[in-house]
Amino acid sequence: MTPFEYLKKTEKQRMKDLFELLNFPSVSAKSEHKKDVADCAEWLNSHLNVIGFKSKVYKTPGHPIVYAEYMVDKKHPTIIYYGHYDVQPPEPLELWKTPPFKPEIRDGYIYARGATDDKGQTFAQIKGLEAVIKTTGTLPVNIKFLIEGEEETHSVNLPKFIKQNKKMLKGDIVVVSDTAQFNKNLPAVTYGLRGIASVEVFVYGPNRDVHSGSFGGAIANPVNILCGLVGQLHDKNNKITILGFYKDVKSLTKWEKNQFKKLPYNAAEYKKSLGINELQGEKGFSTYERAWARPTCDVNGIKGGYQGEGAKTIIPSMASCKITMRLVPNQDPIDICNKFEKYLLKIAPKSVKVKVDKHGGARGVVVPTDGPWLEASGRAIKAGFGKEPVFMREGGSIPIVGDFKDILGLDTLLIGFGQQDDNIHSPNERFRIVDFERGCKTAAVLPEELAKVKK
Ligand code: BES
Ligand code: MN
Ligand code: MN
Repeated sequence: MTPFEYLKKTEKQRMKDLFELLNFPSVSAKSEHKKDVADCAEWLNSHLNVIGFKSKVYKTPGHPIVYAEYMVDKKHPTIIYYGHYDVQPPEPLELWKTPPFKPEIRDGYIYARGATDDKGQTFAQIKGLEAVIKTTGTLPVNIKFLIEGEEETHSVNLPKFIKQNKKMLKGDIVVVSDTAQFNKNLPAVTYGLRGIASVEVFVYGPNRDVHSGSFGGAIANPVNILCGLVGQLHDKNNKITILGFYKDVKSLTKWEKNQFKKLPYNAAEYKKSLGINELQGEKGFSTYERAWARPTCDVNGIKGGYQGEGAKTIIPSMASCKITMRLVPNQDPIDICNKFEKYLLKIAPKSVKVKVDKHGGARGVVVPTDGPWLEASGRAIKAGFGKEPVFMREGGSIPIVGDFKDILGLDTLLIGFGQQDDNIHSPNERFRIVDFERGCKTAAVLPEELAKVKK
């Protein structure tokens, strides 16, 4: 039997297994799900052990790490596979057609939180390898799986784990399936990810909520002030106004600008898919440049005052918001957080107290766009998807990818099986079944292609 025949034969069971994995509400952001996250790690651990990996769960001060090895021969290349089994909070629940942790198949899609990001994609890698192990009795490369439970909360404990286990994690290249294809007919290799810097802003006014008739007009309203401050983060050309924000930003190379231009882009479709009439972004840049290769500053959520039923006439005592800035390579998240704080304190009026909590973040990365590893992954994608992949960047972040380079000296192959409209981080997250199957096939071919790369 060939690995592809094995995948065909085990199609039903594979879907059943994936459903089990998607059943865990492994929401890393919420402490009430701590046990669910740990249970999910245990499930993955035993699944990997059954397939033939030597797998172990490592505790951290946060959520556990699953680490599994399949070592064949020192002479073969060693591939580190990275993925994450934690997921984003599913809220707002009322917008889900079916519950987020009860996977369901509709119209060729698997619907569930984590379906693509990143349980489904990581599982495709695991099942592709299983197909090779079960049909050939071995693998043509050594494999080390590193699957964490804190990616969606900034991978706070993983860098330390990697530093402490450098020997165990010795390898030649990293493979990550946690990105998307270019579109439904065009697979992609991603060569760049943006970084991220997170801050939270608090604006304090009167020592309690007060009557807006008695005091309104005489004192500052923290919600009004916060909105004003947020409004001053961009100028009329949509450039970020934080002093020194662009200092370390490198301009795009000619090669990249051309590369982006070559990709099929349809502004009308882009707008339609999002239900918006007009695009908006930094003056002088195209949509892909703005979304993949330029930094941003966005409010993720804002809070303050009365939101309940009916009316309540108050000047709220405080307001706050969470902001993330997407970074491009060379920008330092700590430096950017400091610059944000300095700027905000400078423009804040004396009528309120303003505090900025700085949470740091991760650097942006670009990985090589040529070389034998990349060519090998291209051949595997061709075998799985029936098409040559294009090169693209992504606007999202995978914090640990920069650390793989900095700590282990390793480059990463970002071969994603998802789609742009899979609703990751949104209600009704989904994974197209054909993408899952093609992903499994790609994963089954990847080891033999990577094995051809001479050390
Ligand atoms: N898989 C995503 C990263 C991603 C998003 C890749 C979109 C390609 C397209 C990852 O799980 C993610 O969501 N990362 C977070 C990291 C953050 C919480 C530090 C992100 O980008 O917001
Ligand atoms: Mn992800
Ligand atoms: Mn995510």
